[in-house]
Amino acid sequence: MACSALICDSEPWKDLKGHVEDIKKTHLRDLMRDSERCKSMMVEFDGLLLDYSRQCARQDTIQKLFGLAEAAHLKEKIKKMYDGEHINSTEDRSVLHVALRASRDTVICNDGKNIVSDVWKVLDKISEFSERVRSGSWVGVTGKALKDVIAVGIGGSFLGPLFVHTALQTDPEAIACAEGRQLRFLANVDPIDVARSITGLNPETTLVVVVSKTFTTAETMLNARTLREWISAALGSEAVAKHMVAVSTNLTLVEKFGIDPNNAFAFWDWVGGRYSVCSAVGMLPLSLQYGFSVVEKFLKGASSIDQHFYSAPFDKNIPVLLGLLSVWNVSFLGYPARAILPYSQALEKFAPHIQQACMLTTTLSFNMESNGKGVSIDGVPLPFEAGEIDFGEPGTNGQHSFYQLIHQGRVIPCDFIGVVKSQQSALFMFLLDCFTGEVVSNHDELMSNFFAQPDALAYGKSPEQLLTEKVPQHLISHKTFSGNRPSLNLLLPCLNAYNIGQLLAIYEHRIAVEGFIWGINSFDQWGVELGKSLASQVRKQLNKSRTKGEPVEGFNYSTTTMLKKYLE
Ligand code: F6P
Repeated sequence: MACSALICDSEPWKDLKGHVEDIKKTHLRDLMRDSERCKSMMVEFDGLLLDYSRQCARQDTIQKLFGLAEAAHLKEKIKKMYDGEHINSTEDRSVLHVALRASRDTVICNDGKNIVSDVWKVLDKISEFSERVRSGSWVGVTGKALKDVIAVGIGGSFLGPLFVHTALQTDPEAIACAEGRQLRFLANVDPIDVARSITGLNPETTLVVVVSKTFTTAETMLNARTLREWISAALGSEAVAKHMVAVSTNLTLVEKFGIDPNNAFAFWDWVGGRYSVCSAVGMLPLSLQYGFSVVEKFLKGASSIDQHFYSAPFDKNIPVLLGLLSVWNVSFLGYPARAILPYSQALEKFAPHIQQACMLTTTLSFNMESNGKGVSIDGVPLPFEAGEIDFGEPGTNGQHSFYQLIHQGRVIPCDFIGVVKSQQSALFMFLLDCFTGEVVSNHDELMSNFFAQPDALAYGKSPEQLLTEKVPQHLISHKTFSGNRPSLNLLLPCLNAYNIGQLLAIYEHRIAVEGFIWGINSFDQWGVELGKSLASQVRKQLNKSRTKGEPVEGFNYSTTTMLKKYLE
């Protein structure tokens, strides 16, 4: 297939379209009876176990998806990414976040230059700087150690680091390394978020890390100025040099802002914002909080998946399988959403991060920003559904809110993510339930749900079963579960820095696979520009009205009325 052709015109796509009718005749309940099929739908790698047997798919479906991958030149596209080709064609950039976690001796080139040594120069600087701050050899202007950090940034310069920080917060090794330290984030330009970020902190003991790829993002720049004021007002303007550092690709603007370029940590335009967790964007704040040895483990976990993604055959390749199954669910079975359901409270910020990373044709959030596109990479409108609406909540909390919808309402493919050994295994007490006589621990209780929910979705409950249970006739339809609702399970051995890195990389690469198959550019984000430019018109109006009393003009009736009310 020529690169400019749409994938939906390929024979494997048409074949899969026809195959849907066949699959729709089969209930998951029946598919699950075939243990050979189930066995073939399990993949183990580096301590992880993926079970996708509860997808509405047979073995021949998976073969057909591999045919689709071939038609979309998936293998070649993955190679092009690792080879540093400018696959982000609308921005004329390569996409090399894999270089951020490559070992020192790896060679990965961008425009003919090995970039791994540049990556390690910054990582070494992060290691050295964070050690100085943590040990108290870098102190604030009043000579006090900087034990608190506020990372100011938004979108990709916030969500990934927040996810990793939240996941590490309860890991025993990370806890031990973070003793006496606090890491907070300031993302929203809302003064409430500003207040929350500084409440209870003393500027004397606080280090502000301004994180912005462009160093032009309105919210981040205003928040950075606000915190600069907070520091200057308390300690004098010369304190900024000791209390503010930056992470950016735009070191000229960092200097203009007043941050010493020596205290700036670089990254590069070949790192997309939402793929930047493993750059200084995430590594600096996290290393300040947990120490470099912890973040290095995180990078190693991500790197293990990078190598797997590059070299494993597709039938054993976790990100490839996940990506192909997403395409199957969205574009063929017509399920536009995906629920990300980690059975670990530590992963509570995982779904919000993945939301931004993805964003395909229909919506925006990692997946939704990457794949929230309406045209192919060549600018041709897509005649098929691509991209999914990602959302999620840790189990079992989600079970008590939106699971009703996914069991009896809309069909939403679910990712169940579970952990064998809890971070809090010290709390692994077996307690007697005085009502049932069973002995259970918190983690076993949690995981009982992790194992049960996928079967409830797959098998459902028929009216016949309800009748044998003597359910009254008028409740039969209410209590019937149609089942046949797809899900998959990903089981991690535990949730330390290494596993968190693995999880991140799996989802990053899954997004790339989806985009490569759909033939869209998962690495640009033009869709966020229009709102930003309209906000700047409103900002100008507010400024003119407040400072010169100028009337509101140039907006439609609705916005004019709202603005007048606001200015009153
Ligand atoms: O929301 C759009 C976006 O450009 C994201 O892609 C990016 O992560 C975020 O804004 C923040 O941008 P920056 O890091 O340049 O401040």
